[in-house]
Amino acid sequence: MRKKIVAANWKMNMTQAESARFVESLVLDIGDITDVEVVIVPPFTAIAKVMEALGTSQSIKVGAQNMHWEPNGPFTGEISAALLRDLLVRYVVLGHSERRTLFRETDEIVNRKVRAAHEATLRPIVCVGETLEQRDKGNVGKILSIQLRGSLKDLNEKELQETVIAYEPVWAIGTGRNATPQQAQEAHAFIRRTLREMSDEATADRIRIQYGGSMKPENARDLMTQPDIDGALVGGASLDPRSFAQIVKAARDEK
Ligand code: PGA
Repeated sequence: MRKKIVAANWKMNMTQAESARFVESLVLDIGDITDVEVVIVPPFTAIAKVMEALGTSQSIKVGAQNMHWEPNGPFTGEISAALLRDLLVRYVVLGHSERRTLFRETDEIVNRKVRAAHEATLRPIVCVGETLEQRDKGNVGKILSIQLRGSLKDLNEKELQETVIAYEPVWAIGTGRNATPQQAQEAHAFIRRTLREMSDEATADRIRIQYGGSMKPENARDLMTQPDIDGALVGGASLDPRSFAQIVKAARDEK
């Protein structure tokens, strides 16, 4: 009942020319896919080029990697939800662990951004996940609960349903060491239980929870066939259109 959502998080990579080539190749490979939601998340500088390369194709959507919570004003170097909507962007990744760690984003900051995104009808992809140290200490549940309750504070049921959660264990991001399907499923089930406590069963059952962290074509199917894994947020493997297309197809095959 939840449509899988697979997103390509390009991080600080891809020129305009590379982005256009990627889109051409991906469209040829996956065609007009409708049973999986596909989102490309380029750097700000390539968003317009990706839109142009997609042309009238409606099946692939575009996201941004971050935004500021204010709609406009004196915030040199920042981008707002309104500016992203002006480019017809549909999704925005918020609270990625790289932003939490390298740019000191707290749950409170992430929450401000999440609420601003909803106000502008942008759909947030909210990242949560524990470090290796937190996992070794047995604190996975505690950390996920704090991050979810903090980042999603004051959202109504409709906003929650339109939010995508990305479970990204920090120790699995860019390391080549993915969570096992069992470890990931356990965390996803915990996240869904927490969402249930924060809202109600019907709402929590509609929220899509992506897995992210060293997802690649070889492990994609085993991860995405888990009952609470509703797609993927892909970093490294999303820079190559063929491997990203394989991950998209892995989300579709088990339907
Ligand atoms: P990775 O990154 O696939 O390179 O591990 C995932 C992410 O950071 O979203």
